[in-house]
Amino acid sequence: MIFETHAHYDDEAFREDRDKLLKALPEKGIGRVVNVGASPESCQTTIELMEAYDFVYGALGIHPSETAVLDEALFSRLREQCRHAKCVAVGEIGLDYYWQEPERAIQKKWFTRQLQLAKELRLPIVIHSRDAAMDTIEIMKAEHAEETGGVIHCFSYTKETAEIFLKMGFYIGVGGVVTFKNAKKLKEAVEYIPMERIVVETDSPYLAPEPNRGKRNDSSKLSFVINEIARIKQISPRQVEELTWQNACKLYQMEEVY
Ligand code: NI
Repeated sequence: MIFETHAHYDDEAFREDRDKLLKALPEKGIGRVVNVGASPESCQTTIELMEAYDFVYGALGIHPSETAVLDEALFSRLREQCRHAKCVAVGEIGLDYYWQEPERAIQKKWFTRQLQLAKELRLPIVIHSRDAAMDTIEIMKAEHAEETGGVIHCFSYTKETAEIFLKMGFYIGVGGVVTFKNAKKLKEAVEYIPMERIVVETDSPYLAPEPNRGKRNDSSKLSFVINEIARIKQISPRQVEELTWQNACKLYQMEEVY
């Protein structure tokens, strides 16, 4: 069984066929899905999805690009939502300097607050970090993020940066980008990262792997990601599937038995 560690089935890209698509995933080999909230609205939809489908769990948090709307009332609501029995992580949270907005001070403030929330609730974290490696690491170290652990989702940095996150005990989320021909840096990082720290993710509806690049993504496409990791690591796809299942269960503090 494949463990999908990061998808956004609340996205409007799935409005037409969400239920049909989700119901078909287990027979396509997808055993568990963590749907990841990114805004107050998507956290609410994520809760609805995890209550509707046995195999769907949730990570709840506010994405750096959505932090401008946050205030104390919304933050309190997030804390309550995170107490849900099927909430397995706080995320996705972090820093995104690819976009100019919201300003960095706001992103940093709510990243810090959500790291503190994860510690308070003893939940691992799902990190989104884009063009912001140094600040992400600085804040994670200052807040002792190694105490909660978690995953660096859609890892896009060098193997040297991977080493820093690995030393802090984090898992590395690998998705469709690893199948792209020009993803030399990521392929090198995957070669370097020990197999026991890799988890697979789609970030659906985004980042579909080859040969579906540019189309809507969904968890059934994870086999392409698994095949490419197997090629890089020179092990069988079956081994990648089993190891990433075990890793994801440890990451999200879940039973390994399905
Ligand atoms: Ni995401």
